Formats: sequence, structure tokens, C-alpha cells
Amino acid sequence: MIRLALTKGRIEEETVEILHKSGYDAAELTDKGRRLLFKIKNADIEAVLAKAADVITYIEHGVCDIGIVGKDTIMEYGKSFYEVLDLNFGKCRFALAGLKDKEKDFYEGYSQKVIATKYPNVAKRYFTENGVDVEIVKIDGSVELAPILGLSAAIVDIVETGSTLKENGLVIYEEIARVSARVIVNKASIKLKKNEVDEFVGRISRVI
Ligand code: PRP
Repeated sequence: MIRLALTKGRIEEETVEILHKSGYDAAELTDKGRRLLFKIKNADIEAVLAKAADVITYIEHGVCDIGIVGKDTIMEYGKSFYEVLDLNFGKCRFALAGLKDKEKDFYEGYSQKVIATKYPNVAKRYFTENGVDVEIVKIDGSVELAPILGLSAAIVDIVETGSTLKENGLVIYEEIARVSARVIVNKASIKLKKNEVDEFVGRISRVI
């Protein structure tokens, strides 16, 4: 038996679709009610739907064997597992963004700037690599509010369609990284359940 950890929300629909396309009966995942644990009826596979960061936790702790999660979450929280496949959906970008009329100010002067973000590790790494000293402030949602309220000089966030930025008068200052959904595998499962993992990854890779 293998157990999958799937990310609910933004990439959930495409994740279930790719399971279907690979020949897995994911019917329980499309009609799920309040249930949390699902069976793939035509294979020896169980699946859970979880928040992205929890997918990483379940894979790292070995209670799930294979996960499907965004590269954004991997970059923020990921440490110890194998990333084996780029699924090419859930495509978006990490960007540094700020108010449209404040871009020049952001690059001027030597004072330490405040950066608001839901992804403090990604932001910290980016500014460290670029040798820029910033103060990172963690915000849990709708981070676009931070520069509007005057809390920060810019934000580091995920941009998908760009409409949240646009509707709030913000623009991209710099692109940091491109992200998409990935398949990750627990370090022990890749050896101990080699055949099952190969079978699953192989079937998925043939339809992407
Ligand atoms: C993400 C992100 C942006 C928005 C970008 O937030 O943090 O706010 O989506 O998408 P867009 O470019 O297509 O407009 P999410 O919807 O996950 O919610 P949150 O801000 O409440 O965390």
C-alpha cells in the first residue's frame, strides 16, 4: 500500500484530474464531503487532502509516501525528501512587488527596507543572495495590504494571474522564481516501496 498526500485548494482540481488521466479511480476525491482519508479503488493506494505545508510534514515524517505540492511550499518549508517530477500545472511566480508609484523609492537610499511576506524563508534567502539587508515581517494572508497600509516597502509573494496585484495598485519589481506543482517522495519509501513508487510516478509521468 502507498499513501498519497495531496494539496487541497488551488491545485486540487488539476491533481485529481491527473490521477484520473493516469487511470486511477479518484472518484472519492471528487465527491468528498467532510472526509479526510480516501481510497483509490482500483489500486492499493490511499490519499489524504491537506494544506500544502502539512503535505511536506507528512512526507518528511514518513506517514505518507508520495506528495503533490507546489514548489513555492517546497522552497519555503522543504528539507528532506526527493522531488521527482514537475507536473507543469499550478504555474505561478514568486515576485517582489510593491506600489506602482513607489518602485523608484524602493531602490533608492540605503535605509533598511521592510518586506512583508507569507514566505519569510524564501524572502530571506533572496535578499541574502543579493546582499540586501531587509527586515522581514510575516503576514498570513492578503499580504498586498502591507504596502498599502504603509507597513512595508514591498512584498514577496506568489503571483498567478496578476489580478490581485493589479486590482490593488501594485506591480512586480522583480521576478524571483518560477513555481509549479511537484511530486515529492519520502526518503525511505523511495527504497522500501520502490516498485509501488516507480509504478505511480511512471503512470503520472506518461500523461503530463
Ligand atoms: C495568493 C497570493 C496572492 C494571490 C495571487 O493568495 O498570495 O494574494 O494568490 O493570485 P493572482 O495573481 O492570480 O491574483 P491566496 O489566494 O492563496 O490567498 P491568501 O492571500 O489569503 O493567502
